[in-house]
Amino acid sequence: MSNQTSADIRARATELARALTEHSRAYYVDDAPTIADAEYDRLLRELEQIESDHPGLVTPDSPTQRVGAPPADGFAAVDHATPMLSLTNAFDNHELAEFDRRARAAVNGSALAYCAEPKFDGTALNIRYENGLLVRATTRGDGATGEDITLNARTIRNLPLRLMSDNPPAFIEIRGEVVLARSKFEALNERLRAEGHKTFVNPRNAAAGSLRQLDSKITATRPLAFMGYGIGRVEGFELPDSLFDQLQQLAAWGFSISEYVQRVEGLDGCIAYYNAMAERRAGLDIEIDGCVFKVDDGATRSELGFVARAPRWAIARKFPAEEATTILNEVDFQVGRTGALTPVAKLEPVFVGGVTVSNATLHNMDEIERKDIRIGDIVTVRRAGDVIPEVKALYRRGEHSRPIELPGSCPVCGSAIERVQGEAVARCTGGLVCAAQRREALKHFASRRALDIEGLGDRQIEAFVDEGLLATPADIFALEPHREALVEREGYGEKSVTNLLASIEASKQTTLERFIFALGIREVGETMARDLARHFGSLEALQAEAGAYLRRQQEAHYAHPDNRAARERLMTAEGLQAVPGVGSRVASLIADFFAEPRNIQVIEALVQAGVRWPTVDMDDAPQPLSGKTFVLTGSMESLTRDDAGERLEALGARVTSSVSRKTDYVVAGARAGSKREKAEKLGVSILDESALLALLNDPNTLP
Ligand code: IVH
Repeated sequence: MSNQTSADIRARATELARALTEHSRAYYVDDAPTIADAEYDRLLRELEQIESDHPGLVTPDSPTQRVGAPPADGFAAVDHATPMLSLTNAFDNHELAEFDRRARAAVNGSALAYCAEPKFDGTALNIRYENGLLVRATTRGDGATGEDITLNARTIRNLPLRLMSDNPPAFIEIRGEVVLARSKFEALNERLRAEGHKTFVNPRNAAAGSLRQLDSKITATRPLAFMGYGIGRVEGFELPDSLFDQLQQLAAWGFSISEYVQRVEGLDGCIAYYNAMAERRAGLDIEIDGCVFKVDDGATRSELGFVARAPRWAIARKFPAEEATTILNEVDFQVGRTGALTPVAKLEPVFVGGVTVSNATLHNMDEIERKDIRIGDIVTVRRAGDVIPEVKALYRRGEHSRPIELPGSCPVCGSAIERVQGEAVARCTGGLVCAAQRREALKHFASRRALDIEGLGDRQIEAFVDEGLLATPADIFALEPHREALVEREGYGEKSVTNLLASIEASKQTTLERFIFALGIREVGETMARDLARHFGSLEALQAEAGAYLRRQQEAHYAHPDNRAARERLMTAEGLQAVPGVGSRVASLIADFFAEPRNIQVIEALVQAGVRWPTVDMDDAPQPLSGKTFVLTGSMESLTRDDAGERLEALGARVTSSVSRKTDYVVAGARAGSKREKAEKLGVSILDESALLALLNDPNTLP
């Protein structure tokens, strides 16, 4: 190789490494990709080729060094330059106040500023950089000595292999948490399952397990992320005195830090921050198990010092645990609106997610089988935010455990149970004969997004059904004659009955889309109800099409008994399946619904009772956004997602909840998570809040 070529190649390698590092940081740290995936791969392959031809050109911070190395025999023990401390926990605001009081004593009682951060639920990592270059990464271990997992850490995509700075510290230890995003966790487990491997119980275990793989090539396949939260020993660099500013320094060096880091004032500031984070918690892609408050000012920190192995200047205010273990005593089966049987675990009461839980869903029989759960087992129960508690996993097999069996007949009405092949769900075939289905159908009918009958909530409906006042939706409009009986009921009075009857009367004036939704046809949610209303314009037209669908299905069957594709072609051309989102399965469910005489009776009784809706302008006069599908995610400053959705719909757009190839635009507000990621992956256009506002102002600005 001539010197000339060698210089060219060296320059090209340097340029590739620089460009790849930048693109990778834009993608993994800033969440703002600057290059297409395929182009990135092409550049990476080019660099790999050069390095393999000229091994002398491989640098320790080359982007090719993230891919992992052959399995190791074990991990070497390494002492941390400064110990990795732990945090004292506060489990309630009283304990937090105690901490604040003790800390304030160091400054004669005056209020303190705190650096407030989320407490990441992952596994700690300590990384040494010498003259800006990553030289060693270690687990926390016992706090004094950890394990050398440098090769694994190098595979973490958002971890800088070199600090972004021209004058980095001569030596520095960066501390943070290795996490696995929720959105990546499910996919990882699915992959492990498909490959016949054991799955992980939660993102934290997945992060810890992946980081301690002896084969770093395996770690490289796990989408881990590093979130910086602190600094250990530092030499040859003047760090800012404020911890908040130190975190900004980490970000400037190229580390991901939490977007929720904040400087707060005093105990009140800490409590407000904790409450805000508790509210956000369920929606975050990275799991957090509390908030950390650290005295921001350096002099006060030095004054406070340490006790045992925790600083006196920091505290972790923990969220109530979302998971706990308990005994599964029994399983009941609950019947839903569409007859679906849900196995409900009767548990030995356990405190989880801030409340005592004694019932939790087991979802369906397939899930029970997959999780291998039996009555008498010790199980892990999860209750996150307002989500219904669920039995998440088998914790330990009970000594006298016995299998969970699907009942032979409906536990409520005794009708036969049907379990369609390929479907996880078992159903009661009783339809509206079944009191449980009737009750759920009524709740759905009166709910906010259906007929929206104020004062007729789940509790009232259950009581009214039990007392024989209600059986079908039409009965709601025949409550007036029972006025006296209602007034006499406990907790009711003249006024609440008058209000209830008035809101029932008001609900008679509804819209076609609400009415279709209220009917509770299986798989027909709000969006589809709206599409059906727009497409057909009237209930009669929809009903007629449902009838025609069954006839056409038979004709198609006779015309092409052995050619499914030809049958599908005949069916999709017109009628029900011409409506966006209505596939053959949903079309059949709609057709079956209208073929059932009992359902027609209910509709007729409702119309008889005076339920009315204005006719709908059909799709044929195209509106500016007709034919365009939007998904809204994240939060916006000037309007709520619901408002934005309504305004888009008023312009003819469809607004749906999940991103697919059929989505035209994703409107991503602040803290948009997995939906935005999916849109990026699928190449769906993304609009920010200002683009949305421009579009609402003038739909012709559609990009
Ligand atoms: S600071 C000197 N900040 O929680 C204080 N720790 O019990 C040292 N953790 O093992 C820790 N998020 O891995 C700190 N924002 C955060 C944190 C955090 C998670 C973990 C850390 C440590 C444990 C402390």
